[in-house]
Order: sequence, then structure tokens, then C-alpha cells
Amino acid sequence: MYILGIESSCDETAAAVINENKEILSSVVWTQLDEHKKFGGVVPEIAARAHLEKIDEIVTKALDTAKISFSDLNAVAAAAGPGLIGGVIVGVMTAKAIAAVNNIPFIAVNHLEGHALAARILYPVNFPFLLLLTSGGHCQILEVLGVGKYQKLGATIDDAAGEAFDKVAKMLNLGYPGGPWVEKYALNGNPDRFSLPRPLKGKNNCDFSFSGLKTAVRHLIEKLENNLSENDKADISAAFQKAVVDVMKDRMTKAINIFKSHFPEAKDVVVAGGVAANSAIRSMILDLAQENQLIFSAPPPNLCTDNAAMIAYAALERFNLGLINTLDFKPRPRWPLYENYEQS
Ligand code: KG4
Ligand code: ZN
Repeated sequence: MYILGIESSCDETAAAVINENKEILSSVVWTQLDEHKKFGGVVPEIAARAHLEKIDEIVTKALDTAKISFSDLNAVAAAAGPGLIGGVIVGVMTAKAIAAVNNIPFIAVNHLEGHALAARILYPVNFPFLLLLTSGGHCQILEVLGVGKYQKLGATIDDAAGEAFDKVAKMLNLGYPGGPWVEKYALNGNPDRFSLPRPLKGKNNCDFSFSGLKTAVRHLIEKLENNLSENDKADISAAFQKAVVDVMKDRMTKAINIFKSHFPEAKDVVVAGGVAANSAIRSMILDLAQENQLIFSAPPPNLCTDNAAMIAYAALERFNLGLINTLDFKPRPRWPLYENYEQS
């Protein structure tokens, strides 16, 4: 059995083929880096056009690499939201056309569910599990009860963590996307030279806030009169990353306690989404999990950042449960995992 997955909800045009044994036969990711670099962020209209220009080539490449053709497919899936609607429409319309022409089921996958389930491709993560989902657009802690079944414990009240990494990298003139650059600079920095705030630390809930932290970094840079040496950049990166790790540790400690009280038998804690590629964050959650006799899993970095293998995999889980969609499914710019998830 073969399922084709398509991802185009942000600035990656991606396609992947997975089989019934969860083997990823191909995973092609084309990142629109050069298109958006000069703006320091994703420009929705440019992204949509770039997806449209590239998608046929990327899908063909995914099929060729998997050594199959359209007629071998058993289902086709696309990330149908949430995301930049122009790009989402490109992926969904492509998948619907492939479904219609080849007379196979179409599966609309929530991009966040793709991230949420990705750890299950490689690891035996069982439901229910606790999930820190942290990416460029989202930062939330969820109890994952099953496919399509999510309970929110907390979420960011302003910026997503990835957004904060990207903005800090932009202020430091490092590169785009910012996360990997901040991580690289932080490796050589002193995290204790500058003190930065820990927003919401100690609060009696599992919410996040990153905008104050970002503003604090801006004030720090202004205080240094924008005259930053490579050393300063490394120290600021390290201080910022440490603040994020501290805050996430505090929120996840709270979340683990709640999760354990809800599901005393549950064993798994997962971190996923683009920011989960960060090794300081991964190792902090690994430690927390061990302290709490839980098993930590995270997708490998190439399955954390946006890709289509996670979309194909979520579709495989849905296909196995008989959860397929009709061709009148409308792409959704906003599609929270925990509200009316199955309503369509
Ligand atoms: O999941 P993703 O690829 O796209 C969204 O769905 O948003 O996440 C992209 C985000 C970007 O903000 C990027 O800077 C961040 O993930 N990111 C990282 C790292 N690698 C990617 N943040 C921190 N450390 C990293 N190593
Ligand atoms: Zn994503």
C-alpha cells in the first residue's frame, strides 16, 4: 500500500510516499529560502506562487524516488490547514486532482496533527501521550488521546517560540530561518552574561508568552548601541536560548504533573514541530521525562521541521481508521487541533 502526502502550508513545498509498514520511501522538501530571505520572514503571496510553480515537479520527484507511479497509490493526502491559505489551496487542489483522476481516497490532514504524530513513525509512542508542539506558528502543550483527539493544557498567549527564535536571529543579523542560527551561536556563547526575563514562569497554568522576551532582547541590543561583536551575538543567543529552555521546563513540569494525574498509566512524552529540532530543548525534556519515569521521544530533526512524510504518515493512521474526506473539503487557514476537530 502506498500513500502520497503533500505539504505546502508555509514555505516548504514537499511531497512524500509512505507504505503500510511506515517506511518512508521518499521525502522531498523544497525550501523557498531564497524567495523569503531578503524579507526576513515568509511573504504569503510569494509563497503561494512558488508552491504553484514547484508542486508538480516535487510530486513527480517523490513518486520517482519511491519508484512508483500514480496508479500504484492507494490514497493521497494534503496538509489542509492551518497555514497560509494560498499555499494550502495549492496542496489541497493538487491532492484532490490526483484523487479524482486516479479514483483513490483524499485525506485532509491537519498540519499540526502531522507534527503531533511524527514521533510514531520511528518510535513506539502510545496514546495517550503528552506533547509539546513548538514551531514557527504554534506553541502548545497537548494531551494526545488518539488520532483526531486532543486536549489542550496550555498555549502561547502571544508569539510562538519559533517566531521568537526567528525575530531574535533577525535582530542579531544571523540568518533565516533563525532557530538553527541562534542554536549555533548559542553553542559558543556565555548564557549568564546577560539576564533576560522568564515570562509566565511559576504561573499556575501551562501557557507560554514569548513577546516580552523578544522585546527584552531588542532593548539589550539597543543598550549595546547595535554595535555587536560576534561574541556579543553568541552571548545574546545563549542567554535567549537558556530563557526559552527555562520557561519550557517550568511549563512542562506543570504539564507532566497534570498529565500524570489524568493518565497515571501513560508513559510517553513527545516534543515535535520545527523548534523541537533544537538540541538544548530536546535534552531538557529528556531529563524531565527521566525524572518522571516517562519515555521521551522526538522525531529526528528532518521530521521536526516541515516535511510531507509526517503528512503521509498522519494520513496512513487516518486511512487505517477509515477516516477519509470528500472532495468538497475546504482548506482551513485556522484549524486548532482541540476545537471541533472533526467538524468539516
Ligand atoms: O514546524 P516548522 O518547520 O514550521 C511551522 O509549522 O511553523 O517550524 C519552523 C520554525 C522556525 O521558526 C525555525 O526557526 C524553528 O522552527 N527552528 C528552530 C530550530 N530549527 C528550526 N528553532 C530552534 N532551534 C532549532 N534548531
Ligand atoms: Zn510546521
